[in-house]
Amino acid sequence: MTESQKTANLTVNGESYELPVFSPTAGPDVIDIRKLYGTAGVFTYDPGFTSTASCDSTITYIDGEKGELLHRGYPIDQLAEKSHFLEVCFLLLYGYLPQADELEQFETTITRHTMIHEQMHYFFRGFRRDAHPMATMVGVVGAMSAFYHDSTDVGDERQREIATHRLIAKMPTIAAMAYKYSIGQPFMYPRNDLDYASNFLYMCFAVPAEEYEVNPILSRAMDRILTLHADHEQNASTSTVRLASSSGANPFACIAAGIACLWGPAHGGANQACLEMLEEIGSVDRIPEFIERAKDKNDPFRLMGFGHRVYKNFDPRAKVMKQSADEVLELLGIDNNPKLQVAKALEKQALEDPYFIEKKLFPNVDFYSGIILEAMGFPTSMFTPIFALSRTVGWVSQWKEMIADPQNKIGRPRQLYLGETSRDYTDIEGR
Ligand code: SDX
Repeated sequence: MTESQKTANLTVNGESYELPVFSPTAGPDVIDIRKLYGTAGVFTYDPGFTSTASCDSTITYIDGEKGELLHRGYPIDQLAEKSHFLEVCFLLLYGYLPQADELEQFETTITRHTMIHEQMHYFFRGFRRDAHPMATMVGVVGAMSAFYHDSTDVGDERQREIATHRLIAKMPTIAAMAYKYSIGQPFMYPRNDLDYASNFLYMCFAVPAEEYEVNPILSRAMDRILTLHADHEQNASTSTVRLASSSGANPFACIAAGIACLWGPAHGGANQACLEMLEEIGSVDRIPEFIERAKDKNDPFRLMGFGHRVYKNFDPRAKVMKQSADEVLELLGIDNNPKLQVAKALEKQALEDPYFIEKKLFPNVDFYSGIILEAMGFPTSMFTPIFALSRTVGWVSQWKEMIADPQNKIGRPRQLYLGETSRDYTDIEGR
């Protein structure tokens, strides 16, 4: 991190303090408060971390006002149009766009790590068939710590590299197995002759009883969905992975923690919740009723797929996703999909409503993704596992960056304590 050139002055309890200020390559300055408690005896207070930078990073930059998302400086709309998911994985992991031979070697390495330990098939059988695939993924990814002991030492760079490849390569296999297990079909082994997205579709939708041809329209759409979800700065699940990793826990346990956090409907679970909401709305004429509910403070209902902590203009991923939804459904001949019609009408009406305008609520990445995934044949329960599959590269990239940071230390926030002050124990007779 560059040396501080500026300072901020803070006066508290009659004392003045000068705090270093660091300037980024893009985005807001940060005030360095690392020594604040030691010098001024006070904490800062920021539940939800709305004004807190938890780390420095060079991976992803978001400008919420401009609706800008950069991965190592490259705009997400250019990557979605011109790149593909495994190249974006290389970019996120290593910081630059690979030469042809580097990309080929990386893709070969990932392809050759896609099978999981055969013993893990028995691990799946311990789950109920009706378990949510996210529950299965949390369990199986955490259990990777019990199958891949030779890549759990975070102090060993080679083991970190192997764990990185194993996680990116095996996540589609695990997600597909969670899906197959939930519908009572046999697992399909990965195929080395298929690209990453095609292989995932194959493992989900092929059956041993007949040949399965991957539809190139769907594999391109799937690859684009994976690219759009790959990383997103210090979101809740990435922060979870960083905090878990700060204790030195092994990478598989930390990624399992990230999957658990992503599952929530306020985060990665919103894509499933959004499609269920569109189903509940059912028709365009019921939209005003739901918009009023979303505005009603006494009603816990929120428009799923709308709003974002950072984007206060538009989510650039939602724009690309909307274009992709139009393309895929038209190519599949289902562009009169009622949920797509409801989604477009809902977006239009919400964006014209003063409440949403004033609170700067726009469609986010989850608003259109479910429509494409449903058109591909996925049940809503598979939407968040696909998000987790993609975000694994973001989690792992941020984990690698943190582990390599010499400033890395265990994360240990403090609190504003509002409980009882010290008092003596009273025996039960005296209570
Ligand atoms: C993801 O962080 C990331 O980068 C996440 C993500 C990633 O790639 O990792 O982008 C992925 O999680 C996208 C977000 C998916 N979640 C949803 O679509 C769920 C619906 N959205 C909301 O729950 C909400 O917008 C959040 C959680 C996304 C953001 O919440 P914030 O930043 O804490 O904002 P807030 O809850 O303080 O809302 C501000 C105001 C509130 O009203 P007031 O209290 O000021 O009166 O806006 C209102 C909220 O009630 N509001 C909504 C709303 N979202 C916020 N009102 C109706 N519908 C909504 N969707």
